[in-house]
Amino acid sequence: MIVNLLVLLLFIGLIVLCGWLCYRSIRSSKLWVKIVGGVGFALLTLLFLGAAFTGGKGLASVYFPGAPAAPDLTVAGTPEQVARGEYLVNMSCIGCHSAAGADGAPTMQHPLSGGWNIAAAEGFGFIGDLVAENLTPGGKLAGYTDGELFRTLRQRVDKDGRQLVFMSLLPYGQLSDADTEAIVAYLRTLEPAQQSAATGDKLNFVGAMMMGAGMFGAPEQGADTVAAPPEGATAEYGKYVATFGECRGCHGPDLTGTPASAMGPAVPNPRPLVSGISEEQFVAMMRSGVKPDGQPFPEGMPWQVAAQMTDSDLAALYAYLTAPVQ
Ligand code: HEC
Ligand code: HEC
Repeated sequence: MIVNLLVLLLFIGLIVLCGWLCYRSIRSSKLWVKIVGGVGFALLTLLFLGAAFTGGKGLASVYFPGAPAAPDLTVAGTPEQVARGEYLVNMSCIGCHSAAGADGAPTMQHPLSGGWNIAAAEGFGFIGDLVAENLTPGGKLAGYTDGELFRTLRQRVDKDGRQLVFMSLLPYGQLSDADTEAIVAYLRTLEPAQQSAATGDKLNFVGAMMMGAGMFGAPEQGADTVAAPPEGATAEYGKYVATFGECRGCHGPDLTGTPASAMGPAVPNPRPLVSGISEEQFVAMMRSGVKPDGQPFPEGMPWQVAAQMTDSDLAALYAYLTAPVQ
């Protein structure tokens, strides 16, 4: 934060300096100084003004996202809540927050002690470090109330209300109140584990400028209360399964595919394939990682996660993927 503020001050200093030099050039008695200096320093002033404005805007959106206050909430932690939370966490969160291996990448294994620097790993380390947090009570979450942890998931802000850069890209604000509470309940039961790596965000000024320019998309604010659609093999519930099952994070909000971007390569639209196969073939494909034509899913498709889904959740996903886009 301090470094980013110093960079911002530096840019403001450069704006003043170049503005002043521009003014002096225009006042000069020599015509070439008037033209070259005037235009050159005017352009530099505008350039630094743009950098300071977008960077300042990005920093403001991180530090003052305007999130609502954390709800006053105590999660009961019933066995049903813990079991539901375990199902959701092992499907969603473990992919990023599981213990980091020797290469720093998540191992998909417990403990959920975090430490994976997703920015460096995915090739956008030039915006700073975004390191998955330790989700066990051995880390900072021990100092969060249930309400603060609930708000972290719903609004993607930390205990102090600062925006979480990467979490904001994920659709967890759409999880129901009951499922959000179930996740809180389960995280509280984890064995405390330590994490020696520095976790959390360290966005640099380049990242702040990109954020200010809206290049990460505007984080959507979560509603005060969210209810899940009625459970069943319907397209509506299937869309909800695609939210906690992570499919929408990669295949796009409507599961129609995503083009290549700064955050990664293009991901295909799964609907044409799924529409051409039966529900049984779909379930078999998601459980085995092999498509009906005998081709395995490529490396980038984490079918092992979807393979753990219940039959009824897979049936709902099938209904969603074969229904008109909604
Ligand atoms: C695609 C990767 C990814 C997934 C999936 C993911 N997270 Fe995160 N999470 C991160 C990163 C990276 C951070 C560090 C802060 C940031 O950049 O958002 C983080 C930070 C957090 C934090 C710390 C908040 C704070 O106050 O500092 C919590 C809590 C959290 N995640 C919970 C979850 C839960 C619960 C799930 C599953 C429902 C989940 N995350 C899924 C990447 C992920
Ligand atoms: C981490 C990103 C990621 C997640 C999460 C993810 N997918 Fe994929 N998926 C991919 C990639 C990458 C491919 C294959 C790209 C290719 O063929 O080159 C793929 C391929 C597929 C295909 C095959 C498409 C075809 O025509 O060959 C289906 C079906 C599919 N995914 C369904 C799902 C479902 C359902 C979910 C949620 C349970 C899901 N995916 C979650 C990245 C992801």
